[in-house]
Amino acid sequence: MGTLATVAANILSIVPARLIKHAFELMQKGIAGDHTLTDISLHANTYNRLTGKILFYSGMILLATVLRGLFSFLARWRIAVAGKRIEYALKNEIYTHYQTLPLRFYRRNNTGDMMARISEDVNQVGMYLGPAIAHGLNTVVMLLMLIPYMLIINAHLTRYAVLPILILAAGTYYISTLMKERAETIQDQLSRLTTFVQESFSGIRTLQAFAREANSTNVFAEQCDTYKTQYLRLTTINAIFFPVTRSIIGLGAVLVVFVGGQAVISGTNTPGNIAEFVMYVNLLGWPIFALSWVNHIVQRAAASQKRINEFLQERNPITSKKSLKSPIKGRIAFENVSLIYPNSGIKALQSINLEITPGKIVAIVGATGAGKSTIARLISRLDDADTGTITIDGIPIQDYDVSFLREQLGYVPQDALLFSDTLKNNIAWGKPQATDTQIAQAAQLAAIFDSIQALPKQMETMVGEKGATLSGGQKQRIAIARALIRIPKILILDDCLSAVDAQTASHILRNIKHTMKKSTTLLISHNVVASQLADQVLVLEEGVLVEQGTHEELLAHKGAYYALYKQQHTQLV
Ligand SMILES: Nc1ncnc2c1ncn2[C@@H]1O[C@H](COP(=O)(O)OP(=O)(O)OP(=O)(O)O)[C@@H](O)[C@H]1O
Ligand SMILES: [Mg+2]
Repeated sequence: MGTLATVAANILSIVPARLIKHAFELMQKGIAGDHTLTDISLHANTYNRLTGKILFYSGMILLATVLRGLFSFLARWRIAVAGKRIEYALKNEIYTHYQTLPLRFYRRNNTGDMMARISEDVNQVGMYLGPAIAHGLNTVVMLLMLIPYMLIINAHLTRYAVLPILILAAGTYYISTLMKERAETIQDQLSRLTTFVQESFSGIRTLQAFAREANSTNVFAEQCDTYKTQYLRLTTINAIFFPVTRSIIGLGAVLVVFVGGQAVISGTNTPGNIAEFVMYVNLLGWPIFALSWVNHIVQRAAASQKRINEFLQERNPITSKKSLKSPIKGRIAFENVSLIYPNSGIKALQSINLEITPGKIVAIVGATGAGKSTIARLISRLDDADTGTITIDGIPIQDYDVSFLREQLGYVPQDALLFSDTLKNNIAWGKPQATDTQIAQAAQLAAIFDSIQALPKQMETMVGEKGATLSGGQKQRIAIARALIRIPKILILDDCLSAVDAQTASHILRNIKHTMKKSTTLLISHNVVASQLADQVLVLEEGVLVEQGTHEELLAHKGAYYALYKQQHTQLV
């Protein structure tokens, strides 16, 4: 519909020129004929007839112009709507795709880049889909219709009319590459500026604590200045470009009048034809002008679409082999499991063998970088092991449907994140259909309920961005409540009692032990205090499982665990 409307609008933009030609010729004939008349009464008669005709032509021109406006509105509107719909679909597609991508993808790429692709790059493609297609189509239709038509009417004059326009086309092509380069540097500078601002706000605590505000302000001012200078360079081109374009189009009109005028003098052409051609030159000028702009947009859109496709073509290797959806009990077994992180080449786990029975609290302890979090990530399938098998209830973990498996887990990552929402919604995030009583119960289990009740707005309190209004320990306990509300089959607490005092920690663990009788709890920590309450302790050292047993057994064994225990106790004393 948009295309048809474009064709109609272009035909209607040629019509007025034709009508003007006829009106001119009519006048010319009328006046020329008039000179031969001698009777004065016939004069008035002729003028009346001419005026009537001219009025008729004027009316027709007006009608054509109005209709043309209507059709170009229709064309742009239909094409813009289609463009916006595609842009919307593309945005949704990218967002949905991002969410399917594995943790490894997120480690490789930074947030700023991903945000840029879903917003700025999609906008560029959107510019192409809407305005660029509309103008491009208009130009092509106009050139294909008008130039042959002009050639048929007057090939001689067409050559002169088209000449300056060709110069304009070449000139705009050159200038548009220049503009493109400058626009790109502006875009780069803008993203540098945004990254700087974003980082300084998210790191405001560090920034202020180190008294670096003045420095930060200076850097910002410098970056802004660079941005301004670059923008001014682009504005200069723009400012020169438009008047020059107008002049060249005007030059075309002058050339047509000059060459055509000579033809009129020699009697081979009519003034009407010249008037018509002057209008054609003006009609051609704008599409040519738009063509370079369209070219620029198409190039930027192509570059953006390429960037978008790079991410859309990424596939998640973590898939399910059999899409099994049988409920799990929580028996976990590792057989010869090894993992090397591809980006760092670090052997995070080496031939791990372990077995965890449901209903037990199992502590995984070890120094920093021992591979504790890696085990948690393998169980929740955020990563897959290189070799060895991990089974849950005797079934290989790869056979379970990935989402189905994760829904039965309660995983509190080491850097658990709270969302800028109410406390209630942050807890219910683990189980969206939870009732108020369930939310309160979960908060009680995580030993945070009383603190919440003491707040003026209680459960409706907003936690700032990333939980900015809460203390470290409070954040950890909300995150635990969020996992507990699911009453998961496997609960994984990755170092999330580190900011909680020993007494509260043991209180929470007793609660967990009581409510999670049938499910498995993995308690990851480098603090041996918490592991005293565990049924079983696994000790990791540089990716190797060096010891396992109960707290007492391991102490009696006087090995790695004992060393760790003694070290922490002497530190306390
Ligand atoms: N995404 C990653 N890419 C590359 N190497 C990683 C990655 N995550 C962890 N590692 C490396 O793997 C090893 C084990 O890391 P892991 O996070 O499992 O340690 P951890 O025992 O949880 O340590 P912490 O107590 O400090 O949390 C470390 O040497 C670490 O540097
Ligand atoms: Mg860790």
